[in-house]
Amino acid sequence: MKLAAVVAILISFSFGAWAQELPNREGSFRFAVVGDSGTGGKRQHQIGALLGQYHKTLGFMTVLMLGDNIYGRHKPKDFQKKFELPYKALLDSGVKFRAALGNHDSPTQISYKPFNMDGLRYYTFKPSEGIRFFALDSTAVDKRQLEWIERELSGSAGDWKIVYFHHPIYSSGARHGSDLALRAVLEPLFVKYGVSVVLSGHDHFYERIEPQRGIHYFVIGGSAKLRKKNIRKTGLTAKAFDRDNSFAVMEIDRDVLHFQAISRTGETVDIGSISRNSASVDGLRKGRDSAPLK
Ligand SMILES: [Fe+2]
Repeated sequence: MKLAAVVAILISFSFGAWAQELPNREGSFRFAVVGDSGTGGKRQHQIGALLGQYHKTLGFMTVLMLGDNIYGRHKPKDFQKKFELPYKALLDSGVKFRAALGNHDSPTQISYKPFNMDGLRYYTFKPSEGIRFFALDSTAVDKRQLEWIERELSGSAGDWKIVYFHHPIYSSGARHGSDLALRAVLEPLFVKYGVSVVLSGHDHFYERIEPQRGIHYFVIGGSAKLRKKNIRKTGLTAKAFDRDNSFAVMEIDRDVLHFQAISRTGETVDIGSISRNSASVDGLRKGRDSAPLK
């Protein structure tokens, strides 16, 4: 075998995890998810570069931001440093970010065009036929917001319903953990109106929760900051990763949602699929449910 071929194989092994692993089926809807991302630091840039790699193969055009989008100051140069530069490749490709507000975010973000919030603290959008996202402001849940989400959920029968907001109502984080007050007001609505998937951040790691009352919860809060070894034994965890930063890509193909969590070094740390209207998770590929490859 020629040296060049050997080198190519070695490179493909070293960076193999960069390759797309979701089904990546024609006609499916694909999106990416980041949480607690707005530091402007090296780790955010590394995740941004990986997102760019995945964008090349998956071609997703939507990225959900789960809050703490901009830490610290909110001057124009901060938006540049903590958002525009780390995700430049995606922004240049026309990828649309859709932000939810976290506890570190100034409400002025709602008017920042590239976050596509249209001046609203909470909003809904339908990026593809049969799929609807709902972004909430979990820092300030009031009666008005609860009435709004109930109205919007009840009017979305037949759609995939994916809700995202900053504070997790299920999390094994020692730092924050499950927000029980929020769970008390939101979970009954999610159950009543058939929400399938809920995405949150705030705890700086990745966790997929065992289905709760038929709903799949993810914590994706380590896309720049990291709280190492912060995941406690709670009995909630289906899969957890708190050793490095991470983000996720997802794909909806008719009644199946595929998910894949990827570490800062490009390792796939969780992968599987969820059937709509079902609490079961299947498709966890052999060898992928264990410790990530070195
Ligand atoms: Fe937070």
